[in-house]
Amino acid sequence: MSGNYYLEMLDINKTFPGAKVLNHIDFKIKPGEVRALMGENGAGKSTLMKILGGIYQKDKDSGRILIEGREVEINHVDDAKKYGISIIHQEISLAENMTVYDNIFMGCELDAGIRGFLNDKEMIRRAQAIVDELKVGIDVRQKVGELSIAKQQMIEICRALLSKAKVIVMDEPTSSLTQTEIEQLFEQIRKLKEDGIAIIYISHRMEEIFQISDSITVLRDGALIGTKKACELDNRKIIEMMVGRDLDNYMRSDAVFDIKDVCLEVKNLNNKKLKDISFTLRKGEVLGFAGLVGAGRSEMARAVFGIDRIDSGQILVNGREVKIRNASDAIRAGIGYVPESRKEEGLVLSNSIKFNLTISVLEQFIKGCFVNRKKEMELIDEYVNKLSIKMASAEQLVQYLSGGNQQKVVVSKWLATKPDILILDEPTRGIDIGAKTEIYHLIVEMAKAGVAVLLISSEMEEIMNLSTRIVVMYEGRIKAVLTEEETKKAVQEDIMWYASGRKKDEAE
Ligand SMILES: Nc1ncnc2c1ncn2[C@@H]1O[C@H](COP(=O)(O)OP(=O)(O)OP(=O)(O)O)[C@@H](O)[C@H]1O
Ligand SMILES: [Mg+2]
Repeated sequence: MSGNYYLEMLDINKTFPGAKVLNHIDFKIKPGEVRALMGENGAGKSTLMKILGGIYQKDKDSGRILIEGREVEINHVDDAKKYGISIIHQEISLAENMTVYDNIFMGCELDAGIRGFLNDKEMIRRAQAIVDELKVGIDVRQKVGELSIAKQQMIEICRALLSKAKVIVMDEPTSSLTQTEIEQLFEQIRKLKEDGIAIIYISHRMEEIFQISDSITVLRDGALIGTKKACELDNRKIIEMMVGRDLDNYMRSDAVFDIKDVCLEVKNLNNKKLKDISFTLRKGEVLGFAGLVGAGRSEMARAVFGIDRIDSGQILVNGREVKIRNASDAIRAGIGYVPESRKEEGLVLSNSIKFNLTISVLEQFIKGCFVNRKKEMELIDEYVNKLSIKMASAEQLVQYLSGGNQQKVVVSKWLATKPDILILDEPTRGIDIGAKTEIYHLIVEMAKAGVAVLLISSEMEEIMNLSTRIVVMYEGRIKAVLTEEETKKAVQEDIMWYASGRKKDEAE
């Protein structure tokens, strides 16, 4: 008996070589229901959804999938599509060298029939209409590769909206979006809900879960802990279901900073995306960069780290001008960088956790032609334990880690390097609530030890709680720099005010 579920996944099991990652999972959803799927990094959320999407196959002779009460086989992405299942993946999967509109139309129902008859002009018109509705602010004729991660994420969402799906899975769709974009997405979710579309929503951001979901399913270590109505739960109860114990929240009050001399000075930096950027960063401080998606924060980081070209301007490290033409120059100048996109710049996916974690500190362990393996393992153990990186062994390839655990490896790699200046771009993207707190502690610890930290984050709370001063950017420019005093007193609305391009003294 199927009640009125659109989708039922019953007794689903999944084993990867050496690891059973899903155990007897039941998951059912009704039309128009918004279900949050929660659990710590590595709990099995993405794996369950990939089985639904035909990317992975469930273990043979185990479990069943029913659509409107009828058993179906989903062995391929096309099968999933046929049953109206559309997935926005955690890792962006767009074709970078194709245009936005090509990407939006690719893989959706339209391409079977209508696409053949649509001319480019019509595709551009339709794609632009959807993009505009989500207020993404891009020209759909642009190449995807030219867009920021956040905008790419919005394109993935547009693509799903166009696919006429019955079930839309969103695997951390908001991980690099800011409040405004998230609101727009939620607006769309509400519309989809009215149209009877079921949404499966994966996120580590608690406040989002309560804003948008009707019900919540929690997984822990590949097991189903339970499904409950959102109104029966609160933060504490969910955390307890997820981790099996209570967690203390990170409080700013226990951090005392000892801020010293300026160690990084950026003067009148200009390039294609940046206009006259000037700021100073001191030893022992956490300088927070706030702003909307596309405000130029990541571009600023990329320019300072030598990835993007600088047209004019100066970078001074400890009072001396340095020419940074590439990442090696930056590292030599004592700068470390946790990039926004771990896939491109942060990790060698086809290599082991051990390799990735120690690649930038290996010199420390080398004596003559020997590597001190014991020391190396100690370092790995330290971070694996601190951030609870869930892995089979340190030899496991990074590509087989869950999204959040990959991010933990990137962050660990740079924390271990102990650079003089550390740029963190969305360091807790996709990281679960327990490990997040641990990263906050590590950031504060580093600053206290004299490291100058530059923190870019779209999570306002993170910026507000960790920063000693806050810089707000808007359209490639710095709109405001809050003093320490102002930062202490600032509320989110103040930051949003500048982030939307307004000035201090403009009347509300
Ligand atoms: N292709 C694979 N081969 C081997 N192990 C895998 C593979 N894909 C995932 N795993 C393992 O399965 C477990 C569940 O991973 P999954 O990606 O489903 O977690 P998740 O709940 O989505 O976590 P996150 O919040 O970090 O995204 C992890 O321990 C992961 O290492
Ligand atoms: Mg995942």
